[in-house]
Amino acid sequence: MTQLTLPPLPYAEDALAPYMSAETLEFHHGKHHQAYVTKGNELLAGSELENLSLDEMVKQSFGKKELQPLFNNVAQHWNHNHFWKWMKPNGGGNKIPGALEKKITEDLGGVEKFAADFAAAGVGQFGSGWAWLVQDPKTGKLEIMKTPNGENPLAHGKITLLGCDVWEHSYYIDYRNRRPDYLKAFLQNLVNWDYVLELYESDAHRQAA
Ligand code: FE2
Repeated sequence: MTQLTLPPLPYAEDALAPYMSAETLEFHHGKHHQAYVTKGNELLAGSELENLSLDEMVKQSFGKKELQPLFNNVAQHWNHNHFWKWMKPNGGGNKIPGALEKKITEDLGGVEKFAADFAAAGVGQFGSGWAWLVQDPKTGKLEIMKTPNGENPLAHGKITLLGCDVWEHSYYIDYRNRRPDYLKAFLQNLVNWDYVLELYESDAHRQAA
């Protein structure tokens, strides 16, 4: 079967401080993400999805009542695999690679409007979930969306470019209940736009949607 494994963080645990502390990453990566991996492997063993790619596991388990627990864990594994790469030390701000900046300006009304709308999606997600920057494969347009719990754009047929985890486990140690401040720090200081561009330009990533 396809074994889910916890990827190492692409930076030291304290590399994102003070915007995301080592303690947050220790728990979020080492405990929460690990739990999705462990539970996902338990649920996959002997299931009809056990030999699929992770992308296909997410897509084929979505919306099926009997596979909901499996979906929750494999989707959260997919989400967090990307989430660690969507951040880097000294990231964020307006340092958006040219091709992407142009596209954001064309489709979303400019970089500042994008940031405001992305943050609003994260703040407006009631309870646990994610805020996303996606591309619609049919229209080619960029869009902002939000999803509850482990749901992601892949399950909804969209091309995922950027996501921010707005579960409390992502910010409560550093920001307590101040989710807007966490989203602001994510956008201004953490986003790894090089990875967003890599996804935007990847045919394989596009075709998986
Ligand atoms: Fe998380």
